Amino acid sequence: MNNKQLVAEHAAWLVEDGMVVGLGTGSTANYFIEAIARRRVDEDLTVQVVASSVVSTIKAQQLGLPLLALEHIDQLDLYVDGADEVTADLTLLKGRGADLVREKLLANASDKFLVLIDASKRVNRIGENFPIPIEVMPFAWQLVQRSITKLGGQASLRANATKDGLAVTPHGSLVLDVNFDANLDHQWLNDQLNAIPGIVEHGIFYGLTSAVLCAEQGQVVEQWSNSVAI
Ligand code: A5P
Repeated sequence: MNNKQLVAEHAAWLVEDGMVVGLGTGSTANYFIEAIARRRVDEDLTVQVVASSVVSTIKAQQLGLPLLALEHIDQLDLYVDGADEVTADLTLLKGRGADLVREKLLANASDKFLVLIDASKRVNRIGENFPIPIEVMPFAWQLVQRSITKLGGQASLRANATKDGLAVTPHGSLVLDVNFDANLDHQWLNDQLNAIPGIVEHGIFYGLTSAVLCAEQGQVVEQWSNSVAI
């Protein structure tokens, strides 16, 4: 069993009967979806799921999990997803898969948000390994780029997978991938980006994580936020 499977199996045991569970996007989230689908069959676990992307919707459908539409829920019990970077204060960088709008909605709406990683995702600062993805309304991208330049960021429009056009998100947004000065504080940056008109959403997940579950050397270490009752 690899680290991603290990931490996904661990998280699946935290799902309780009757829960509404948000499904993340990515390879770790896929293992989690498989694990709860197995528990549903083996243990007759009653669970309803909400997906954060088209890919996780299809995966859940294929495994027979009862899906709720995002627009039909006003709250969920648990949201489980991976991340691209995690800092010591449990701030995340997410959205390399361009599904960060739904991901942040689910993270914000859930009673508990569990983040599944291995040690390679730990960083000293957000933006250490990847640019920060920022979803923008297509007609606003140049104005947003100008605002980002004023904050000291260098923004470039994300290309599509075949590099012959621009990446367009499931909501019709363009994506600016932005590199910021290494000394910028991520709480300050989160506040600044939240205040720029034309930004649909960005990849800094600040103050949303309930716990990080990290697979290290064959074991899962749980790190809970101080603000969450375990
Ligand atoms: C998806 O948009 C991202 O936020 C993912 O959660 C992230 O890329 C993690 O993916 P892996 O689990 O495949 O590393």
